[in-house]
Amino acid sequence: MQIVSTIKEMCSISEGVRTAGQIIALVPTMGYFHEGHLSLMREGRRRGDVLVVSLFINPAQFGEDEDYASYPRDFSKDKNIAEGIGVDILFVPTVEEMYPEGYQSFVEVETVTKPMEGQFRPTHFRGVTTVVAKLFNIVRPHSAIFGEKDFQQLVVIRRMVEDLNMGVEIIGMPIVRERDGLAMSSRNTYLTFEQRKAALNLNRSLQKASQFFRSGERNPKRIIEAAKEVIEREQDVTIEYVEVRDAKTLEEIEIIREEAVIALAMKVGKVRLIDNLVFRDP
Ligand code: PAF
Repeated sequence: MQIVSTIKEMCSISEGVRTAGQIIALVPTMGYFHEGHLSLMREGRRRGDVLVVSLFINPAQFGEDEDYASYPRDFSKDKNIAEGIGVDILFVPTVEEMYPEGYQSFVEVETVTKPMEGQFRPTHFRGVTTVVAKLFNIVRPHSAIFGEKDFQQLVVIRRMVEDLNMGVEIIGMPIVRERDGLAMSSRNTYLTFEQRKAALNLNRSLQKASQFFRSGERNPKRIIEAAKEVIEREQDVTIEYVEVRDAKTLEEIEIIREEAVIALAMKVGKVRLIDNLVFRDP
């Protein structure tokens, strides 16, 4: 596995790979790998002749009061994991490399970034789309693989790629969960033992919503109420949002007819967690 830290070297490798007619798959990450990342890398390995994984904790997507400084980091462990999976290139640029002095260009996707996460993290998606657009320009992948855990992020990136004719195939991969149902996330490491137990209510509430849906309920309001009721059984938990929206556009819906998503965010103590589930007719 090659470790590349400069944009110049990464661009020249991509140029060579493309000229040789080979396919590049990219998995963008912020590191601290868990099984969720590994499932993305395995899919990338399957799709690309050359698999590039980027590891960059992107300051532009963290709000001022968020956890950029304390975001978990373990480069040497990540490096070994990536090597074990068969990653060809681990791209690890510095912040100065990605955002040099004088940097002033950002990519903004409009409507779809406003609800849900957008209400609580108003500058987040601008940071995500900017860094992902930069990574696409540098790595020039044929396909890029993202997790469905960040459901809105996936919808926003698909929108950006279509609107800006980026020509990258976007692949969404299912959420990977711990055995007890908690969606895997690098931020789970912040949870104390007690908080982790409380966090399980996130998935329990989705299961309740899913049960409602399977029994024929198609009214988003009633599904949301049922999900909230489960979360509120825990004390140290604050709901930020529970929403049911169209899975492709994230528009509000009165009744579930097409594929819809229930997405939620809550805080357990100071730890912010998100999760979601897609309602698909059997
Ligand atoms: O999902 C993430 O880890 C990040 O938002 C991403 C896509 C790597 C951009 O920094």
